[in-house]
Amino acid sequence: MRGPSTWTMGCSVMTPARWLLVLGTSALLTVALLVAVRFAGPPKASRAEAFAEQGPAQKLEAMWAAPDFAFVDDRNVTVTRQALVGKVWVANFVFTQCRTICPLLTSKMVQLMRRLPGVDARFVSFSVDPEHDTPAVLSAYRQRWAADEPRWTLLATTQATLPQLAAGFHVTATPGAAGDLDPIMHSGVFVLVDKQGVVRGVFDSEHAADFQALERGVRVLAGEPGRVVDEPTDAVSLYHALSCASCHENEALAPKLVGLVGSKRELDTGIRVTFDDAYVRESLLSPDAKRLRGYPLRMPSYDGLVSGAALDTLVSWLLRPGSAVDAGSSPVEVAEDPVCHMQVRVTADALKSERDGGAVYFCSSHCQRRFDDNPAAFGR
Ligand code: HEC
Repeated sequence: MRGPSTWTMGCSVMTPARWLLVLGTSALLTVALLVAVRFAGPPKASRAEAFAEQGPAQKLEAMWAAPDFAFVDDRNVTVTRQALVGKVWVANFVFTQCRTICPLLTSKMVQLMRRLPGVDARFVSFSVDPEHDTPAVLSAYRQRWAADEPRWTLLATTQATLPQLAAGFHVTATPGAAGDLDPIMHSGVFVLVDKQGVVRGVFDSEHAADFQALERGVRVLAGEPGRVVDEPTDAVSLYHALSCASCHENEALAPKLVGLVGSKRELDTGIRVTFDDAYVRESLLSPDAKRLRGYPLRMPSYDGLVSGAALDTLVSWLLRPGSAVDAGSSPVEVAEDPVCHMQVRVTADALKSERDGGAVYFCSSHCQRRFDDNPAAFGR
């Protein structure tokens, strides 16, 4: 018969002695956990994101001091936190080989700079890929995105100091070591830092209201009043100023936008839609409503970033007749990246490795490297 001092766990019956042992072990584990939490502080990886979730309601209160750092930038100049004292700055975290979220984040950073013309602020993109992103690589990246922007600094971090930097900003930045299954994990937040080096806000650039709050925050802290941003009036200039070209002229990232009017586009749901006025407008304002098949990267929303007139100009330009580079009428061939399981397009320049069973396709060279290091881990 089972008395009050015995306990059934699975198939085993617990005697009082074993019960005490379990109690003692769990007490020890609890103490160990509490000590670990105490030393690690609050769960740092998510702290910045937790602030970002407050959205545009943030009051620009002092949060914590930005961490110290000294990194070489894309112009081979060493930039330190100290050197930025006296400037308002905005930080984000990217890596150049990333084909998923980073182009989206960089396009937002570039839009932020363009919306703050003449404002004495700095924009700092920390690379979370110390191994690959050298100053020369970052310099080439700048050329693709905003060659002409002196206020933008791209910093090459080091393996030894990246964890400290990430902890200091309370963001995640875990470079994948060889053999890891995940690509580099990093936070997509934008951190606003004041002239004294104190963090005053953390924003999720993907929400239009947050992005606008970030822009306002820079102006408030820099003490520079808002002014109307000069918007180009012709479509081609808009296409470049709004970073459309940085993604859409690189077929590995996004489709060419020529000669598509009237063609059928295949969505990730398998549904086919016509490339017309309504579809193009929706692509610009609510890009997640209809996702084109085979693109791991998401298109940024331009809701709130362009005037109605600029939107009309762009839409009618995108609907112009032209020779089709990709008529989109034939079904799109896509393959699954075995590492991150994203759907990627099978194109001539797609990243691939040859295996006995045929070609294997990847969303990024990180996934490819991970696969090549140990194909068996991915069942090949
Ligand atoms: C950060 C990269 C990026 C930027 C910047 C960008 N796009 Fe896109 N765009 C994409 C990707 C990726 C897709 C396909 C995936 C999807 O549908 O979300 C796409 C899809 C589109 C589509 C639908 C295309 C089709 O073939 O059906 C249109 C139209 C479009 N973008 C227009 C623009 C315009 C205009 C701009 C500039 C105002 C722009 N994009 C800026 C990445 C980008």
